Amino acid sequence: MASITARRYALHRHLEVQEHQNQALKSQLAGLQPLISMGTVSYMTAHEINNLLTPLKSYATFALSAPGDKALAEKALQKVVTNCNRVSKIMDSMLALANGETQEKEYVRLPGLIDEIFTCLCRDFAKDGITVKIKVPENLTVWAVPVQIQQVLMNLILNARDAMLPRGGVLTIEAAEKADSVEIEVADTGSGIEPGNLQNIFEMFFTTKTRDCSAADNSGAGLGLSFCKMIMDGHEGSITVESEPDNGSKFGIVLPKQQSGNS
Ligand SMILES: Nc1ncnc2c1ncn2[C@@H]1O[C@H](COP(=O)(O)OP(=O)(O)OP(=O)(O)O)[C@@H](O)[C@H]1O
Ligand SMILES: [Mg+2]
Repeated sequence: MASITARRYALHRHLEVQEHQNQALKSQLAGLQPLISMGTVSYMTAHEINNLLTPLKSYATFALSAPGDKALAEKALQKVVTNCNRVSKIMDSMLALANGETQEKEYVRLPGLIDEIFTCLCRDFAKDGITVKIKVPENLTVWAVPVQIQQVLMNLILNARDAMLPRGGVLTIEAAEKADSVEIEVADTGSGIEPGNLQNIFEMFFTTKTRDCSAADNSGAGLGLSFCKMIMDGHEGSITVESEPDNGSKFGIVLPKQQSGNS
């Protein structure tokens, strides 16, 4: 009898110690959370800036290879200015994200945002055999942090382009207004996604774009879609995908309209 009581007591003590250690680990983890968030935002910032620097580098290299071509040099410099302006907007937006600040949403014209993305990407899609179809009503507005929604769309467009290289294909961007939201679809006729990968593509660092097996110029970091998901969550919206191998992909985003009290 005495030994059962002693064992019970020992077990009880053991549980108490475990509980104490558990609490200590939880508070350590809570202390690390700001560092984890900072790390995530740093990766994302580097990734988004890289999206804008890559086309600039090709443009500048192209201009340097034709030193006599004044018009080309001027165009390259204009692109430098445009993309530098966007880089500083992205930096501001990322710093605000890192500080946990709420960023101002506004009603912004979607066709204008899309046009700017193609200006920033510089390279003419037609040169890669890609036809771009934009079916967005001229006056359609979305309730969003403009720079962030542009980054989401830019990542979807870059993925669509990678999926269609080197064969080419059709990139379609469509948008429609619903009662409480705006729905945007970015569809391509590219390689599609293996069913086994569909559940992983929104995870950080998941990529199938290694230098050996990707038709795109660069290997992937696996950050684009996780960033899109983070931004869509911040907009209380959603991002979904439908895809089949060799049959293209469709990414859908839903952006809620402004509700009273939703800023
Ligand atoms: N339109 C698409 N068609 C086919 N596969 C896609 C498409 N979009 C995404 N994927 C798949 O999802 C993966 C993750 O995409 P994500 O944008 O997060 O990273 P990534 O493009 O590989 O790298 P990066 O960080 O440069 O964007 C891709 O590697 C690819 O396998
Ligand atoms: Mg990507």
